[in-house]
Amino acid sequence: MKCIRSEIIGHGHYAPAKVLTNDDMAKMVETSDEWITTRTGIKSRHVVENELNSDLSYHAAKMALETAGISAEEIDIVVLATVTPDNTTPATAIKVATMLGTKAGTPAMDVSAACSGFVYALTVADNMIRLGQVKTALVIGSETLSKITDWTDRNTCVLFGDGAGAIVLRACEGNGDSKDKGILSTKIYSDGSHYDTLRTTGGVSATQTAGYVTMDGKEVFKYAINALAQAAEEAMNIAGVQKEEIDWLLPHQANIRIIEGVGKKMELPDEKVVVNLAHHGNTSAASIPLALSEKMSEGTIKKGDLVVLTAMGAGFTWGGAVVRL
Ligand code: ACO
Repeated sequence: MKCIRSEIIGHGHYAPAKVLTNDDMAKMVETSDEWITTRTGIKSRHVVENELNSDLSYHAAKMALETAGISAEEIDIVVLATVTPDNTTPATAIKVATMLGTKAGTPAMDVSAACSGFVYALTVADNMIRLGQVKTALVIGSETLSKITDWTDRNTCVLFGDGAGAIVLRACEGNGDSKDKGILSTKIYSDGSHYDTLRTTGGVSATQTAGYVTMDGKEVFKYAINALAQAAEEAMNIAGVQKEEIDWLLPHQANIRIIEGVGKKMELPDEKVVVNLAHHGNTSAASIPLALSEKMSEGTIKKGDLVVLTAMGAGFTWGGAVVRL
């Protein structure tokens, strides 16, 4: 049956210029390149100096508009996933919309779902397009995690980085089956019984500060592989696609051992699992669109490819999506 789908017509990414290598980290806390590489797969990460989240978002969004070949005036909504906004209020999405020059009155909002933020934001935008409320949506994932990192805590500071990724979604017509192009399914979840396992030490209401990221790494690790695989498989069930049809699994870039564990659990060959965390670390809500855009720019992920996105983060939140590019 004919239906509206959301097609990805543009992609963009941006990382701040300053790079901290594992050797740089070893000068700040008691750690080593060897420990970080073998435990996480991370070699270096980008961190902001004078830029804000809105600046990273702007650059990624600008590239997404350019690759889409459209102007900012064609955007009907901006949805920005982040846990590190410029200000507590207003939403950073509103600032970015103005920086880009969207038309007067364009709705813009932030979505907070930690490392699953982009899949949540994608779900919101996709549903608004499919309901016919908007035609073109800009979806951004952007983080300045360096601002909520405790740089004296070796358990966490080696893991995170700053960056942004963005996509432009546009309404197109589909047949309602798994051969359509665009977003074929999304599925999102949360479970607050893990609220304290991974969180910031502060918050507006609790402490009137932003706080720093703290986590039980082992507990997160245990949960992550199952949650990421389950979300991917459920999104594939909803979309009606089989494992053999998938060109790429694009998991949230948290840790190479988690990523490899998900690939193994889903019985996918390593070559089909997208990895870019070595030079970015974990960029939370930015991780999926950043990896997607990098791989599309270098021609690894191509138009027509079937991609399964899956993410998991603080909350816990988790979720998956199936997209034909
Ligand atoms: N350098 C050197 N040693 C370290 C470091 C470091 N940077 N960090 C911790 N250690 C030490 C610990 O103190 C511990 O020492 P001890 O045995 O004397 O107490 C030892 O290394 C081993 O620590 P473990 O916790 O057993 O190390 P593990 O193999 O579990 O790896 C890690 C830790 C990398 C954090 C892992 O648990 C992990 O990746 N968890 C997932 C967390 C994650 O990715 N969170 C991101 C947000 S959530 C998400 O995105 C899904």
